[in-house]
Amino acid sequence: MRDSAKTAALLRRAENEARYAIQLFGSDPDIMGRAARMLAPWRPEVLDLNCGCPVPKVVKTGAGSALMRDPGRFALVVESLVRASREALGGIPVTVKIRSGWDEGSINYREISRIAVEAGADLVAFHARTRAQGYGGKADWSLIADLVSRLRVPVIGSGDLYSAEDAERMLKETVCGGVMFARGAMGNPFIFSETKELLKGGSYRPTPIPERLATGFRQLGLLAADIGEEAACREMRKQFCAYTKGRSGEPGVPGAAALRNRLVHAVSIDEYRIILLAASRSGV
Ligand SMILES: Cc1cc2nc3c(=O)[nH]c(=O)nc-3n(C[C@H](O)[C@H](O)[C@H](O)COP(=O)(O)O)c2cc1C
Repeated sequence: MRDSAKTAALLRRAENEARYAIQLFGSDPDIMGRAARMLAPWRPEVLDLNCGCPVPKVVKTGAGSALMRDPGRFALVVESLVRASREALGGIPVTVKIRSGWDEGSINYREISRIAVEAGADLVAFHARTRAQGYGGKADWSLIADLVSRLRVPVIGSGDLYSAEDAERMLKETVCGGVMFARGAMGNPFIFSETKELLKGGSYRPTPIPERLATGFRQLGLLAADIGEEAACREMRKQFCAYTKGRSGEPGVPGAAALRNRLVHAVSIDEYRIILLAASRSGV
């Protein structure tokens, strides 16, 4: 709504992006409706409302997870998005991402999702932590199972999914309609194909280390094209820590600690290249 170039950049769609959803956050029903209508040129296939974000900058405006504290306003926002979808976006599904509540004393995911569905939401994605928990502690998957048993629309489960096995376990334990990877996909984009393989065939081939590192390097190049080399090199430090970690009982990169130590100081793509080449020559 503020015509920010930074926000518009987030809307770019990759050529190979087969499914394209746009998520909005906000707390004013009228503004949210107008924002949704502005999305028409991007032709989203799903419109999602963020009611999970715990960041102070967002919650202090009543948006993100703070919207769950005001069920009346929340209902108006969802209704406004559903109307905008019908009138300006070809009636695409409207979905809602929630947490279990604001804090331990105000768990209200049941009430909020019931209201969402009554207002016309087609799916609820559920991160089973309170806002107070942030990203710490453990997500309570039993709440996901509870919500699945109460809603007539699909529930997507979220929280603590770090491997294909985690995803399989969540699907089994909660009978949710799908899972949403988050931190588990950072530095480990293979988690999607590995999960598909596991669910279809009962096992999967863990991605070999050289392939992991090559993919990390490719991500660095793609990110640099998006946000510039310096910022990309900084951002990829965290991700490379994950790229060099062992997965699913497999050992990590040999000499991973020393490799990570060199990578966290890399400030250019060339430096990354030299460090990774040296690592691959030493048998990685
Ligand atoms: C850095 C970061 C950014 C996130 N941004 C969003 C977001 O924009 N929208 C959203 O719905 N969830 C967002 N999430 C939450 C995740 O979708 C997910 O629900 C949460 O991280 C729990 O899953 P996990 O324990 O597997 O990481 C974000 C999480 C992290 C760590």
